[in-house]
Amino acid sequence: MIFYFSGTGNTRYIAERLAQATGERLVSIAQAMTNGQRDYHLGADERIGICFPVHGWRPPFIVRDFIHKLRLDGYEHQYCYGFATCGDDVGLTFDYLADDLRSVGIRLDSVFSVIMPETYNFPFIDQIDTTDVAISKIAAACERFERLLPDVLSCTRDVKSINKSRWPCVNSRLLGSFFLKCWVTDSRFTVDTGSCIHCGKCAAICPVGNIKCPEGMTPQWLHNGLCTTCFSCYHQCPAHAIDFDKRTRGKRQYYFKNEFLPELVKKKEAGN
Ligand SMILES: Cc1cc2nc3c(=O)[nH]c(=O)nc-3n(C[C@H](O)[C@H](O)[C@H](O)COP(=O)(O)O)c2cc1C
Repeated sequence: MIFYFSGTGNTRYIAERLAQATGERLVSIAQAMTNGQRDYHLGADERIGICFPVHGWRPPFIVRDFIHKLRLDGYEHQYCYGFATCGDDVGLTFDYLADDLRSVGIRLDSVFSVIMPETYNFPFIDQIDTTDVAISKIAAACERFERLLPDVLSCTRDVKSINKSRWPCVNSRLLGSFFLKCWVTDSRFTVDTGSCIHCGKCAAICPVGNIKCPEGMTPQWLHNGLCTTCFSCYHQCPAHAIDFDKRTRGKRQYYFKNEFLPELVKKKEAGN
């Protein structure tokens, strides 16, 4: 069973590849948190995968809340792995994940991370990758995924294939808690009403159902307490009308598209 959370699609792609390779089912944490589903049954030979993007050098709070509420029937020390996507490094993300899982009686056996295109908008700089850079990061991530997969398939325990960062404690403990307190909020999103085309895409793609946008209207945030500031609404707005404070104004957008996959890029290049 693969529990996953994804904002802009990087992690969903990885989780789908893991599901394909293992033949195990995918469970969306965002859906489970919105519909209150907490009870799952694990098969005797089934692995537990937890896939998520790193947010502020920790697992997104929705992933942590989900684990604390998880009721997993049939768990008898089957293999459990964490698989994170990140823009750079994970800090102590997996220490947090291991503690959360331990609190519900589950041992985290192995951990993996892959670098994917950046989705976080830092103040002052445009951190989001250009399309070319995003495409090459995805190609490198696909190669790395192929190298990591055998350990997942063979349920190898105690693998730590992650890039922690130079100051993991400072990043995860200090900056991570500041980040969570000050920057994880839906109250800073704004809509440029002059540019908004009222298409409702933001509402349709918000993973946690936190945006309402009836046809022809301007989007409104519901403040349902589940926003992780994944920036999916910002990145996928076709009119680039959504911003987070003024910080994102005029900056690049990115979300995962199949057309960025190495095989499709090569095919396109061959056709040109
Ligand atoms: C709110 C937020 C915080 C992030 N924090 C980190 C971080 O601490 N370290 C890092 O390497 N990448 C960080 N990133 C980048 C994402 O982890 C990375 O782009 C990830 O692949 C996005 O996955 P998704 O498309 O499944 O949402 C952050 C992204 C967002 C939106």
